[in-house]
Amino acid sequence: MQTVGVIGAGQMGAGIAQVAAQAGYRVLLSDMDRARAEAGKAGIGKQLARAVEKEKIAPADAEAALARIEPVGDVSAMAPCALVIEAATEREEIKRAIFQNVGKVLAPDAILASNTSSIPITRLAQAAPDPARFMGVHFFNPVPVMGLIELIRGLATSDATVAAVEKFGQSLNKRIVHANDAPGFIVNRVLMPMLNEACFALGEGVATIPDIDAACQLGLNHPMGPFTLADFIGLDTCLEITRVLFEGTGDPKFRPAPLLVKYVEAGWYGRKTKRGFYDYSGAEPVPTR
Ligand code: 3HC
Repeated sequence: MQTVGVIGAGQMGAGIAQVAAQAGYRVLLSDMDRARAEAGKAGIGKQLARAVEKEKIAPADAEAALARIEPVGDVSAMAPCALVIEAATEREEIKRAIFQNVGKVLAPDAILASNTSSIPITRLAQAAPDPARFMGVHFFNPVPVMGLIELIRGLATSDATVAAVEKFGQSLNKRIVHANDAPGFIVNRVLMPMLNEACFALGEGVATIPDIDAACQLGLNHPMGPFTLADFIGLDTCLEITRVLFEGTGDPKFRPAPLLVKYVEAGWYGRKTKRGFYDYSGAEPVPTR
């Protein structure tokens, strides 16, 4: 597998493109238009430059990795790819349209994988050119830092597809775990109830945002407290995944916390809108409650 396609040059897509290029793959990076794909590559350039500054990688390796990434205008350029990873917006109709378009050019033995964090793989596979060569490959943010990939097979995914994507994941130096096609897979099944519970606790007046964050960060040795992490992931994404858990299982223990819903309804999505549980417009984050 020499050429890998990445569809979506946002935070996740760019991260996936970066680690694949650093592992030696040629990467075709696409987005809605070429300018967005170019912007994704420019962001990767900055990440690599930072890694060089910190003496984490040699300047020549950073330069070579960046040179292996080719921004392309649309998915019709993905014909040479043995593996295409879709990391576009988490909306089913967008992903389905992408699969139909890329399906027109994919090689007959190429694999299509989705980085979806919550949409059932078996359902998405219906829009893929061949459900046997389709599966979930779930990376974590920030991709260059996080050491895990969840692999999710749909009902029709072949063993050969799982084996090929597993080999690819291992070549990126990530630990691979296998999850069934169940709501939230592994990580989000465990993580989202924790973030949601922090919102219930805040809504019920158990403690303040900074105290809940400090308690979990220092009391559990997590790198970030739940509100900092939820803001980092995006509150809209957290709510969306929590709804998938709630609707997919029918279990009331997963019902979204009213406060989380309220923040999303306010358009306070976290870091990306500069306001979530913290306000990020100043030098230091300030709690919003
Ligand atoms: N891209 C690349 N590298 C990054 C980065 C990014 N966006 N952000 C931070 N880093 C690197 C830094 O360069 C630094 O590298 P170094 O140790 O080699 O110098 C290292 O990460 C630590 O960064 P900082 O010192 O700036 O800051 P922190 O120590 O606070 O770490 C963090 C930042 C890595 C984001 C850490 O806080 C963390 O691990 N947080 C939890 C992240 C997490 O849980 N992610 C999973 C979210 S769930 C998900 O993605 C699934 C989805 O479906 C919702």
